[in-house]
Amino acid sequence: MDRITIRKPDDWHLHVRDGAMLKAALPFTAKLFARAIIMPNLLPPVCTVKDAEQYRNRIMKALPAGARFEPLMTCYMTHDTSPDEVEAGFRAGVFTGVKIYPANVTTNSAAGVSDYRRIRRVVERMEKIGMRLLIHGEVIDPEVDVFDREVVFIERELEPLTRDFPGLKIILEHVSSKQGVDFVRSRAGQVGGTITPYHLMLTRTDWLGWGNRPYMYCAPVIKTAKDRAALRAAATSGESNFFLGTDSAPHPVKKKLDVVGAAGLFNAPVAIESYAQVFAEENALDRLEAFASLNGPRHYGLAPNAETITLERSAWTAPGEMKVDGPEERALIHRGGETIPWRVVT
Ligand code: NCD
Ligand code: ZN
Repeated sequence: MDRITIRKPDDWHLHVRDGAMLKAALPFTAKLFARAIIMPNLLPPVCTVKDAEQYRNRIMKALPAGARFEPLMTCYMTHDTSPDEVEAGFRAGVFTGVKIYPANVTTNSAAGVSDYRRIRRVVERMEKIGMRLLIHGEVIDPEVDVFDREVVFIERELEPLTRDFPGLKIILEHVSSKQGVDFVRSRAGQVGGTITPYHLMLTRTDWLGWGNRPYMYCAPVIKTAKDRAALRAAATSGESNFFLGTDSAPHPVKKKLDVVGAAGLFNAPVAIESYAQVFAEENALDRLEAFASLNGPRHYGLAPNAETITLERSAWTAPGEMKVDGPEERALIHRGGETIPWRVVT
C-alpha cells in the first residue's frame, strides 16, 4: 500500500504556546489537523473560563488566512480550581476537559497538583457532568526513579481514581511504558491513552546512547525498546482506547540547551507523516484512520471529521528548524534533516 486516504485527524494533545511561538507553530497543526486539545500550561496557566476564552481568541487570530481549525480548550487543575468554574466552562462550550499536571513534573507545572485529596470535589463534579479528565501520569517523588514515574503514578493515583470514580472518563496522556499500555487496556471504555510519534519511534538509547541529544528530552522520558514495542502494538491494534496525541511542544533553542534543559519536543511538522511511517512499518496502515481520526473523537464523545487527507509513500527531508519572530528566535524540529518516507499530498 503506497497511498492512503483517511478522515482528517485531530491532535488530542498539543502545546501551541503563545505570542510569537504560537504564530510560528500553529500553522503546522492547522494545516493537517481539524481540531486539537490545547494544553493549558502557559505562564501563568489557563485556569479560568475567561483565561481559556482569551487564549482561544489569540489562537484563532494566529491562524493563517483561510485555515479551518478548532482549538479545544482545557482547564489547568490547581488546588484552588472550583467545581463551579469548571462546570460553567464546560456548559458554555469553552472547556473540553480539565488537565492535571503533577506539580513540578514538566514544563510550567509548578501550579499543578501535589495533594490529590484537594481536587476530589472537582473530580466528583466532572464525573457527574460527563467532563473528561486529562492526566500527565507521573509521580514526582524523589525516591522514585525517573523511568518508573508513570508506573508508580498508575499504582498510587490512577488506579484508585478509576475505582473511586467509575463514571469518569479519563485520558492518560502520552503513555510511555508497557505498564501504561497494559493499564489503559485493562480499563477500556473508561481510560483512553494518547500516544506520541516520538514514543513510538525512539528508545532511550537513541536519546543517550551516542552522546546526549537534548532535543529528545521530554516528559515522560523516552523508555526502552520493550516499552516502545508495547506502544507500537497498542497504537496499531485498532483498539478504540488508544489514539493520536502528538505532545508537540516547541521550546526556544536556548531553553532546550540550557544547563537545566526544558522538556518537550517539537514534532508538529512531521507528526502525521511519522505516524504513517510507524503504521506502514507495522503493516497496519489500514488501522491508521482508527488511531488518528476515529478513536479520539469517540472517547471525547465528539463526531469524527468529514474531510479527508491523503498520504503517499514519497520521501522528503524534514526542515531543521522553525523561525520564530523576536527574541525567541527559533525552535528545532524533531527529525529535522531526516528523510521521511511518507508525505501528505492532499
Ligand atoms: C511539555 C511542554 O513542553 O509543555 N513537555 C514535554 O516534555 N512533553 C509538557 C508535557 O506535556 O509534559
Ligand atoms: Zn504535553
